[in-house]
Amino acid sequence: MTDSPAPLVAVIIVAAGSGTRLGHELPKAFVPLAGRTLLERAVESVFGMREAAQVIVVAPEDRLDEARALAAGRAGSAVGYLDVVSGGDSRQASVKRGLAVLRPDVDTVLVHDAARALTPSALCDAVVAAVRASGAGVVPGLDVVDSIKRVDSQGAVLAGVDRQDLSAVQTPQGFPRRMLLSAFDTATEEQTDDAALVLSAGFPVSVIPGDPLAFKITTAWDLHRAELLLSARAQTTGLPRVGTGLDVHAFDDTSELWLAGLHWPGERGLSGYSDGDAAVHAICDALLSAAGLGDVGGVFGTADARLAGAHGDVFLRETLRRVADAGFRVGNVSVQVIGNRPRLAPRRAEAEAFLGAILGAPVSVSATTTDALGFTGRGEGLAAIASALLVPAALQGPVLSWEA
Ligand code: CTP
Ligand code: MG
Repeated sequence: MTDSPAPLVAVIIVAAGSGTRLGHELPKAFVPLAGRTLLERAVESVFGMREAAQVIVVAPEDRLDEARALAAGRAGSAVGYLDVVSGGDSRQASVKRGLAVLRPDVDTVLVHDAARALTPSALCDAVVAAVRASGAGVVPGLDVVDSIKRVDSQGAVLAGVDRQDLSAVQTPQGFPRRMLLSAFDTATEEQTDDAALVLSAGFPVSVIPGDPLAFKITTAWDLHRAELLLSARAQTTGLPRVGTGLDVHAFDDTSELWLAGLHWPGERGLSGYSDGDAAVHAICDALLSAAGLGDVGGVFGTADARLAGAHGDVFLRETLRRVADAGFRVGNVSVQVIGNRPRLAPRRAEAEAFLGAILGAPVSVSATTTDALGFTGRGEGLAAIASALLVPAALQGPVLSWEA
């Protein structure tokens, strides 16, 4: 990224909270939501902004490496714009840690909660545009639809509050850099958001229309709502999804051959960190690609000790779990092995039955040679190419409505 212009916008994604109210065993930003963590979803939305931005993830001190890996996985080619720092004891302290690593050219700073994982990129764009247009602080907000009452600690209603005067504000909240830094420098009290801090420092802040999808995931109910929204979105976008996968492994005479999930005694084995089953790896790539979940290398890595020598069923079951979490089931899979040996035809039905039973869908296995050409023709290794069709899974559980 060194040749690209330095970003003028920075987005601080605060993700260092523990998520007490969610009550999950993991810190909130690391909780999965339909196959991806809240942090990954928030990072993906921010990297989807029209303008390139420095993205600063503020993560729990003991999970910096994990946060960096998750965020980098969603940053794509913009990974050079990503910074990860450790958070503080309060949200405000975490924001402050993020502000400390702003790059020199940045003039507009957005602060965003990782917990608002479904926030559309367009809302971030709108906040940036409004900060530039007004030269002041900008927060997205929604009209309050409920009647609001002021109550005492016993629950007695003291008075009504006119909801005409209220806005339920969200993030990202955007500010000119100098305004935000000055507000943090002079802050004496803890505030629940950045707008409050900037306002108490005497700077103007205005509200632009927010987005219902930018709601904060705070409780288990909110997480469930987010899952339902994603599942409904997968359903209503409705179309099946296809994916392609290719894998190549060199022959290795010291290994046993495992291919298409089967053991092939007496055949030359394939090299690889796991069992080198190119057909299964190609299928996993096709499934992950169809679900938009990346690829085998990204999902499984190459250094996980649990995968040393692992057979195809381990990869297939984990891939299937992720695909199901993302709201899909397998329609069918087709895989073709390219190489001189082994002769697949005699065991085609066995391989198809084995793979099909794991995936719960028809799997076709075929094979071809390359007329003695190329590395497969020379007998140096095997290739496999797979296609997968995914269909949106039926919506599970009660169908709830939500305000749009
Ligand atoms: N946050 C942070 N550092 C903290 C506290 C909160 O970075 N010390 C972040 C959270 O990760 C979250 C955002 O601020 O993305 C909004 O806070 P909240 O929803 O309250 O999250 P938590 O503090 O994690 O949840 P809880 O209050 O239920 O413990
Ligand atoms: Mg909190």
